[in-house]
Amino acid sequence: AMIDKGNHRHFMAKEIYEQPVVVAQTLRSYLRRMENQVALPDMDFDLAGVRRITIVACGTSYYAGLIAKYWFETFARVPVDIDVASEFRYRDPVLEPGGLALFISQSGETADTLAALRHARAERQIIAVVVNVPTSSMAREADLLLPTHAGPEIGVASTKAFTCQLAVLAALAANLARVKGRLSPEEEAEIVYHLSEAPAAMNDALSHDEEIEAMAHLIAPARDVLYLGRGQDYPMALEGALKLKEISYIHAEGYAAGEMKHGPIALIDDAVPVIVIAPSGPLFEKTVSNMQEVQARGGKVVLISDAEGIAAAGDGCMATIEMPRVHPLIVPLVYAVPVQLLAYHVAVAKGTDVDQPRNLAKSVTVE
Ligand code: AGP
Repeated sequence: AMIDKGNHRHFMAKEIYEQPVVVAQTLRSYLRRMENQVALPDMDFDLAGVRRITIVACGTSYYAGLIAKYWFETFARVPVDIDVASEFRYRDPVLEPGGLALFISQSGETADTLAALRHARAERQIIAVVVNVPTSSMAREADLLLPTHAGPEIGVASTKAFTCQLAVLAALAANLARVKGRLSPEEEAEIVYHLSEAPAAMNDALSHDEEIEAMAHLIAPARDVLYLGRGQDYPMALEGALKLKEISYIHAEGYAAGEMKHGPIALIDDAVPVIVIAPSGPLFEKTVSNMQEVQARGGKVVLISDAEGIAAAGDGCMATIEMPRVHPLIVPLVYAVPVQLLAYHVAVAKGTDVDQPRNLAKSVTVE
């Protein structure tokens, strides 16, 4: 079928806007709404017997894995080892037979991830694959195939594949928690409920598009941008920085908010915008105190939080972006939207080739 940009200027914008629909589509095959249960495809191994998970991926898919690590560990209490594919292959990782090796990829053809999969197979791991292209090499080589239903992703910067990966990984984490006896039917029903709410919350996030577009000129002149977050919001900071650097060519770094004082705070002055990802919750106060350290050194902050968070800490900020207040499990799905939109509008403001950024390929099939 022909794929066009519809009413959008770029595929990336179209794909950002498609997210509520494709996430709902993906969730449909992993949630049984009537039974209030998460559901996985049939598998011929015992998921309850899995004692360790090794996640391997590259780029944005790797950041989805970093977020999922929090979920597998907090919900299922299963320890997770995670690495980028190009490092994993060459470090001779300790893999006990019968472990679950989980590969995440939009294309299913990334050479480093595919080679890591084959290495894990040789080390007698069970191979699970979260992949968007159902006919890809990785899909064919999986023991447990967990498709994302994002549809073809054309923009080099991954957007909708990422949020669909998160949806699948959340369902996998809940399923694992249930078979491990760590999730009551009530808790599972609550997770199903909150995941089902994600598409509407993502629509709410999209409604801030114009505001974010208006803010792009504050970021576009910068030479460096920092992204800060804690806990599962730390990988989102890494993802925000990757999105910005790949399409706008501005140097950006994601940092764990608490790590600032160990070095990077030396970079702060009024020319370095700092994007702080801080939803309300148990980590909010801590992240805000790191944000205030930045502000005390002249740093210009863009705070992404909910109404409560912005009321508590938004005052000294250069700008704020208000997200709906959502369950922690769907925070990454919702906060991905403003992070993507910000990178997109900064790139458009700079006039770069958003869908085909220099030096990059959609699918990296060389090692
Ligand atoms: C994301 O915006 C990048 N273009 C890139 O990091 C990408 O996520 C990475 O190359 C992995 O690709 P895959 O998901 O197809 O394996």
